[in-house]
Amino acid sequence: MNEEMFGPISDQATPPVYRYFNGKDWLTSSSGKTSEIISPVDGSVVGSLQAVTREEIDAVMDKAAHAQVAWEKMPLNHRVKIMHLAADWIRQNQDYLISLMVREIGKSHGESKSEIARTADLVDYYANEAQSIKGETLDSDNFPGFDKGRIALIERAAYGVVVAIAPFNYPVNLSASKIAPALLMGNSVVFKPPTQGGISGLHLVRIFEKAGVPEGVLGCVTGTGEEIGDYLVSHPRAAMVAFTGSSDTGYAIAGKASMKTLLFECGGNNPALILPDADYNLTASELVKGAFSYSGQRCTAIKYVLTTPAVRDEILPVLLRTMDSLVKMGDPRSPDTKLVGPVVSEKAAEYIESVINEAVAGGAKIVRGGKRDKAFIEATVLTDVKPDMKIVSEEIFGPVLSFITVASNEEMANIVNGSRFGLQACIFTRDEGSGIILAALLNVGTVQINGSPQRGPDHFPFLGVKRSGIGVQGVRYSLEAVSRLKPVVLNKPQ
Ligand code: G3P
Repeated sequence: MNEEMFGPISDQATPPVYRYFNGKDWLTSSSGKTSEIISPVDGSVVGSLQAVTREEIDAVMDKAAHAQVAWEKMPLNHRVKIMHLAADWIRQNQDYLISLMVREIGKSHGESKSEIARTADLVDYYANEAQSIKGETLDSDNFPGFDKGRIALIERAAYGVVVAIAPFNYPVNLSASKIAPALLMGNSVVFKPPTQGGISGLHLVRIFEKAGVPEGVLGCVTGTGEEIGDYLVSHPRAAMVAFTGSSDTGYAIAGKASMKTLLFECGGNNPALILPDADYNLTASELVKGAFSYSGQRCTAIKYVLTTPAVRDEILPVLLRTMDSLVKMGDPRSPDTKLVGPVVSEKAAEYIESVINEAVAGGAKIVRGGKRDKAFIEATVLTDVKPDMKIVSEEIFGPVLSFITVASNEEMANIVNGSRFGLQACIFTRDEGSGIILAALLNVGTVQINGSPQRGPDHFPFLGVKRSGIGVQGVRYSLEAVSRLKPVVLNKPQ
């Protein structure tokens, strides 16, 4: 199955060099430049991705723009069928995709398996939901001063070519979450997978191709953000950029994308606010899940906790006990590993270690973890952290949880609102009413009450404010975000 299915996408060398996809063929770039994907698990070379040239990007873009016209004219039910086929192919190739993800990004077998299953369900859900997206009609005489005689027929139309850029931490799910809705709404897509995780992303493209996405409608170009990112997001053929990644990269893309429509999900550095009446056992297990799942490498990970000193002193021992049972750092291939494996690279681990050390130099205390071994960094808990320390003010994509003590709920809200991030926040209290009142003070995308921040369930709206995002995702919201209104007004003189 794998060879026949995925054969054309690489040169079959060992380790393989993966080709880019121009919408019809899997090609070798004339650039001669490649990037090795080093497994954070054991340092082995998983394969190499090519850095395509600007001319090759132009050719893929031209193909996509040309193919998009017929694709949008294709009956929606045909596009829906192709998406359901893709979802089934994803399920059928689950084991192969899992093996790739574990090696490429060090995600545990369990988390990789749930990502693949979630992706297949997501693509099916998008396809079903697309069939219920409706337009509307409006009559002129609803508005004062207008008589009958003008009717607006309002449909949704595609933007054209959507550039989709995905992050390493969900290389299949956060690629499909952009590609599927864009295709369903009649756009064509030029996809740039992450570097680390790019091999998994290329296999997803092959699945969409095999499911029947027509020639030119879906292209895939590879290369680092530095090599091809700027050219891609400012390309004249690109009508829209859908991006998930770091806040700094998102900010840079927004500056280059000029009048293009943007749909961004960026970093969160999400806070947990614990009120004195919280259920400490529930809170501790949500803190552990929220802070340490996939080694803290999630946009929705909890990064800091706001409590009064008294609540911190009470919750800390409960948290450490909970970590003893829920966290076990190890090889992501081992079933014994719980939540924490390697982070995506040794360089990333070194950065996290440096920021921990900076916090300690500023007076923070390590109460658990703090040690690094190559790409592995222990699940770490810090106290006596200040909001202006990098461990809180910068996007730390790793297994670190910081405690900041405050005197009041207002001070909690001021710290959250003073952050440049605004993806999610979570509040723990037995009194949901007071949680809702406190939530109203927080300038973030979503507030979770008595649960850790998360994107799912995937039909819920998912959005970030400030440096955490642009636009709203979540099944229906994404389908609407990747399409535009197209009113046709009938003027019928009375
Ligand atoms: O980091 C990506 C962000 O989408 C997190 O998703 O499902 O882990 O909350 P999730």
